[in-house]
Amino acid sequence: MSSTPAPLTTLTQPNDLEAFWLPFTANRAFKKAPRLVTRSEGMYFYAADGHAVLDMTAGLWCANAGHNRAPIVKAIQAQAETLDFAPPFQFAHPLGFRLASRLAELAPGDLDHVFFCNSGSEAVDTALKIALGYWYSMGQAGRTRFIGRERGYHGIGFGGISVGGIVGNRKMFANSLVPGADHLPSTYDRAKQAFTKGEPDYGAHFADALEGLCALHDPSTIAAVIVEPMAGSTGVLPAPKGYLQRLRAICDKYGILLIFDEVITGFGRLGYAFAAERYGVVPDMITFAKGVTSGTVPMGGVLVSHRIHEAFMKGPDLAVELAHGYTYSAHPLACAAGLATLDLYRDEGLFERARALEPKWCDAVMSLKEHPNVLDIRCAGLAAAIDLASLPDAVGKRGYIAMQRAFEEFGFLLRNVGDTLAMSPPLTISEAQIDEAIDKLGRLLNTLG
Ligand SMILES: Cc1ncc(COP(=O)(O)O)c(C=O)c1O
Repeated sequence: MSSTPAPLTTLTQPNDLEAFWLPFTANRAFKKAPRLVTRSEGMYFYAADGHAVLDMTAGLWCANAGHNRAPIVKAIQAQAETLDFAPPFQFAHPLGFRLASRLAELAPGDLDHVFFCNSGSEAVDTALKIALGYWYSMGQAGRTRFIGRERGYHGIGFGGISVGGIVGNRKMFANSLVPGADHLPSTYDRAKQAFTKGEPDYGAHFADALEGLCALHDPSTIAAVIVEPMAGSTGVLPAPKGYLQRLRAICDKYGILLIFDEVITGFGRLGYAFAAERYGVVPDMITFAKGVTSGTVPMGGVLVSHRIHEAFMKGPDLAVELAHGYTYSAHPLACAAGLATLDLYRDEGLFERARALEPKWCDAVMSLKEHPNVLDIRCAGLAAAIDLASLPDAVGKRGYIAMQRAFEEFGFLLRNVGDTLAMSPPLTISEAQIDEAIDKLGRLLNTLG
């Protein structure tokens, strides 16, 4: 009898490290001292040598329900055995509709339609294209400009880096960016906001810069403004109190669409299904990804207002209304994972849990204030960032060493963006695990010199 060999899993050793070009990674340094994870469960990753690593970053801002949760694993397994793929152009499968309805129920205001894709970057480029298509359909094809924000991160598509505000992500591609994109100033001013818990009191006026951009470009050329309600990737910068309301008011004044990029802030990170709810501001579109499947299967999407969707639903019945889509839009495995994940968030009250834990979390991270080299600490929901002073002539090195030591010596996962350390644990974290992580981080900070 011939037996089928067991499929390879991450528990096997890698063959060699050469062929894989790692994303957003210092490849040469990594391959000299690789950080491999092979297994996960609950709040933990397990490294190749077996040591446990407390996941203080929800993977990469995505595993909001914790790892290897049985209901999600079972849903993916069952779907893989039932329908592995369905063509999404002119055909569909039932779970796409179920998931879209569930997401529309969670969304604020009249955001009642969902366009599916596979990542945050695709969600952003999709939203920007929907904005252009909307104005085209409305007879205002001259509205082509986008306004992003300094220190914004909107993924790595050409649209996303054009509205994004991170020079390192733009400089290699500077001559090929989407034309006409401009930027609001960042909402961060350390001198006025340092060590604030939650939304800073200072900074609503940063939104007024949109008036200046409207005067400069003529508002009738601006299609949309896109911002993260809390800038995540550049170091947890929650919107100052009143800022998003002002942005909404100026957009309304000039008829400009407002897009919230909630790829990080969606699904409980700030204690609500979407940060729009925390801030009491309803945008015209919301981009999401990551937490929708708790990171288990790639998925992203755009929640779109009724008005925008309706603008496309005209013309001949057999015509495709929006010439846009992905082979894997609403992939059955992602939809199954998404539905099981949303059930878990609801059944375990994880968004509310994040909200309830926020005061404890913020007190804990702020207790690191007096440690060496700490310039600022920010927190909101279950996210936090610590800015460290850079080593002279080696910007980013102190942060890199912290990330490396956290993994190898202290047994927890930390994300560094330059010399800023970011944490965003699964929403299942216990109070004892918060204390454990902050104790380890405090000891780690003391080793950084
Ligand atoms: C706000 C925001 N938008 C977009 C993205 C891009 O998502 P992805 O890496 O899934 O393409 C990210 C990723 O962190 C993000 O934080």
